[in-house]
Amino acid sequence: MTSAAQEHESKAYPPSPEFTATANAGPELQAAADADRLGFWDEQAKRLDWAEPWTEVLDWSNAPFAKWFVGGKLNVAYNCVDRHVEAGNGDRVAIHFEGEPGDSRSLTYNDLLAEVSRAANTFTELGLVAGDRVAIYMPMIPEAIVTMLACARLGLTHSVVFGGFSSSALRSRIDDAQAKLLVTVDGQWRRGQAAPLKNAADEAVADAKSIEHVLVVARTGIDVEWTEGRDLWWHETVEKASPEHEAQPFDSEHPLFILYTSGTTGKPKGIIHSSGGYLTQASYTHHYVFDHKPGKDVYWCTADIGWVTGHSYIVYGPLSNGVTQVVYEGTPNSPNEHRHFEIIEKYGVSIYYTAPTLIRTFMKWGREIPDAHDLSSIRLLGSVGEPINPEAWRWYREVIGADSAPIVDTWWQTETGAIMISPLPGITATKPGSAMAPLPGISAKIVDDEATPLGAGGNGYLVLDQPWPAMLRGIWGDEQRYRETYWSRYAEQGWYFAGDGARYDDDGALWVLGRVDDVMNVSGHRISTSEVESALVSHPSIAEAAVVGAADETTGQGIVAFVILREHVENTGDTLIKELRDHVAVEISPIAKPRQITVVPELPKTRSGKIMRRLLRDVAEGRELGDTSTLVDPAVFDAIRGK
Ligand code: WTA
Repeated sequence: MTSAAQEHESKAYPPSPEFTATANAGPELQAAADADRLGFWDEQAKRLDWAEPWTEVLDWSNAPFAKWFVGGKLNVAYNCVDRHVEAGNGDRVAIHFEGEPGDSRSLTYNDLLAEVSRAANTFTELGLVAGDRVAIYMPMIPEAIVTMLACARLGLTHSVVFGGFSSSALRSRIDDAQAKLLVTVDGQWRRGQAAPLKNAADEAVADAKSIEHVLVVARTGIDVEWTEGRDLWWHETVEKASPEHEAQPFDSEHPLFILYTSGTTGKPKGIIHSSGGYLTQASYTHHYVFDHKPGKDVYWCTADIGWVTGHSYIVYGPLSNGVTQVVYEGTPNSPNEHRHFEIIEKYGVSIYYTAPTLIRTFMKWGREIPDAHDLSSIRLLGSVGEPINPEAWRWYREVIGADSAPIVDTWWQTETGAIMISPLPGITATKPGSAMAPLPGISAKIVDDEATPLGAGGNGYLVLDQPWPAMLRGIWGDEQRYRETYWSRYAEQGWYFAGDGARYDDDGALWVLGRVDDVMNVSGHRISTSEVESALVSHPSIAEAAVVGAADETTGQGIVAFVILREHVENTGDTLIKELRDHVAVEISPIAKPRQITVVPELPKTRSGKIMRRLLRDVAEGRELGDTSTLVDPAVFDAIRGK
């Protein structure tokens, strides 16, 4: 490490006395968790309303399959909506919706309760019963959140598929979960244009046997094709249904949702989350990490509900805490780069949670853009999705946070369900770039290959050595893969292997270094190298492909592909490359489009036939080659570099 980096590492930013004085979290939180970890979680679960109490906090006897708050019963939607109305806060705004074309509307908790009840009544009328799966393929509009909550209310397990995914990605997720209902929109607004979405949904469900109905919100008014008997308009069904609905309690372990995430093989994993344990930790972390004050703060998490951050920190955590939040439909530069700052100003956003890739984009656009706005309402900033580089961290604090707002750099994963490692504002003296320490109630270690815990300075693997309430409960339909992916590496110790590298610095602060497996992190989105490779080789021109993540100034990593053409295929240069990039967009999503594709005569392989990704990364990042001695043919690199 350079001395400059070391210097940055050593400068810590303590919380201001004013912030500490009113902070939700005090030192007693850690003390309580240290004294009695399960007793601590028992207390946190009581932040929710339960229809029936639990008899045991944790049952880990069938590890790695956990049961939290055993025997307890609750309704997740009741906790996120009804109880705030019953407490007299029905007139509080839950969602300030800001549409991309400039339309806006605000939903109070009264409104939200009526909407969720209507949707729940409609779903029931369609014959759905607890345990059925519902696929959701929608942009960031209130109906998407209403749909998720209506599912939760009825015990339907939802599977949200990011609206930027292709029809084939949607199709494989619908098939895997055997969803009966798909909820979607006619089209979505993107940079002033209405882009169709229902056509992709139609393609995905054509001859998908499990799907009985497709429910469509008219968001843009564009023309759509219609399949009578299967397709239903939201405004002709949900909006006409009764706004009264009584929620039934479900078991604490009832599966709340499945969310697909990339693994190290081509097939995405359906991560299963529970009800009681998941909501307990989502709610606890949202309250303490964001220092959220209901009725006072205006909170904005810029994620999409297609990712876990949208699930835990737009829907379940915030709403369980009676939040008032901004939900924005569009991109940050539509109609121009001022959009986010205008929204912050308009609603007086006080807590802002986003991804490092966006912060670096803001930096590129220039500080005069945020400087043109009154951002004085902001009192806390959050970061998630990838390591935040110290330079971006300091810019974020200075320019967006008036050099005073604490930053919470939150480490977690789709699998962990909720934040695991993060500063606590008001307590932690933060260091730019470090996620600092596990939260009270959470236990993590950094270890080497032999499971020996590492001290300061050593790079190792991040493991979670104790179960946690929001932990995944498995992979949908694939128990073996669940055991292998997360629990086999440190099977003897019974630790969860997170797939990230990490280290402690001399002050004991924890630094997450990024993935150690073949998963790339592009703008905070997880994409596996093999997923992109299989998309490329599904193109008729391609015989073989190798994909690596190369460092990228804005997006963290960029996707770089090396392909070998099939025999007799003509290399048409840019035309072919464009065709391949478009092909990946169709197979997976535009976010998976390689930044660069190079046609090569050969790929570097070990004698056992394994592609040497490390060496390809060296090429992609323009470095001198590392050790090539294990290659079958070291000369292959001259060919790859076009020498
Ligand atoms: C990375 C997103 C460093 C990490 C919530 C993890 C981070 C993966 C951070 C999970 C952070 C997330 N610092 N790295 N604060 N937050 N990551 O499942 O590699 O989309 O394993 O969940 O993102 O990505 P996922």
